[in-house]
Amino acid sequence: MSNSDLQEAMETEKGVAVVTGASSGIGKIYADRLAARGYDLMLVARRGDRLQAVADELKQNYEIRVETVIADLGDPDDLQRLAERIGNDENVTMLVNNAGIAVAAPTVRTSSEDIERLISINNTALARLSLAVLPGFAARNHGTLINIGSVQSFYSRSASTTYSGTKAFVMLFTSGLQQEFAATGVRIQLVLPAGTATEIWELAGVDPKIMNPSMIMSAEDCVDAALAGLDLGEAVTLPSLEDEQLWAEFDALREKMFHAMQTNVPASRYSIAR
Ligand SMILES: NC(=O)c1ccc[n+]([C@@H]2O[C@H](COP(=O)([O-])OP(=O)(O)OC[C@H]3O[C@@H](n4cnc5c(N)ncnc54)[C@H](OP(=O)(O)O)[C@@H]3O)[C@@H](O)[C@H]2O)c1
Repeated sequence: MSNSDLQEAMETEKGVAVVTGASSGIGKIYADRLAARGYDLMLVARRGDRLQAVADELKQNYEIRVETVIADLGDPDDLQRLAERIGNDENVTMLVNNAGIAVAAPTVRTSSEDIERLISINNTALARLSLAVLPGFAARNHGTLINIGSVQSFYSRSASTTYSGTKAFVMLFTSGLQQEFAATGVRIQLVLPAGTATEIWELAGVDPKIMNPSMIMSAEDCVDAALAGLDLGEAVTLPSLEDEQLWAEFDALREKMFHAMQTNVPASRYSIAR
């Protein structure tokens, strides 16, 4: 086998990684790092010019195939088309559900259109695309799903109430999927980044000048840590959490609470005379 044949065989072996929201920020870095790992790519976002620029650069830097798909994940027709497309493509071996939006406002100051947009992109699209690829992954007993949640998956802030709610959905939805597919060869990773330097903040209406740089990670560090977590076999990766025992304790407490509530007797503090 010549070097180029060997290279092509290695690339084909990895298959295609679909990255949503690859036109900027965390998704753009995932595209780069997965290209470096030899994946062919399907890059999804609305801004076709940005996607094309990312694709051109990656094709120049790596010997891979890159396809761009212009889709608005908040549009039911676009979402349906993409779900069918990736669900029917046996070459798809990885999906990074990264596309997301934020609105930095208390719910009383968030329009109902914004609430619906947050839920449709952060939740409906993520769930639909997850469910599009998982049957194929399960049938082939191979494939990786990466869902991007947030530190706000487990901590709600009044400055971003609905965003936190959508990210809580990502955490619990992904956690349930991990249990459903635990006995298979399908890998499902939940990534929970904290503040990361991307466009999302300004788009959400936050003035970058008020942000403390010591609390904001680069998108490169965030993705490199997340992929290191994937390589370590982690189900949940918190790129900026130094003390991993904190997550273990949090997780154990959730479980303890769940089991402690499985009784048909009201708690004694609620006992009422009948
Ligand atoms: N940055 C942070 O501090 C942080 C922290 C925790 C979690 N996260 C999560 O990380 C993920 C990536 O965000 P980011 O920080 O990298 O923000 P970003 O730079 O704004 O990137 C968001 C990406 O999502 C795409 N997108 C947005 N709306 C879309 C739609 N309707 N249809 C298709 N694609 C859409 C955008 O592309 P187009 O505009 O071209 O469509 C863009 O590529 C999100 O899920 C976010 O919630 C971010």
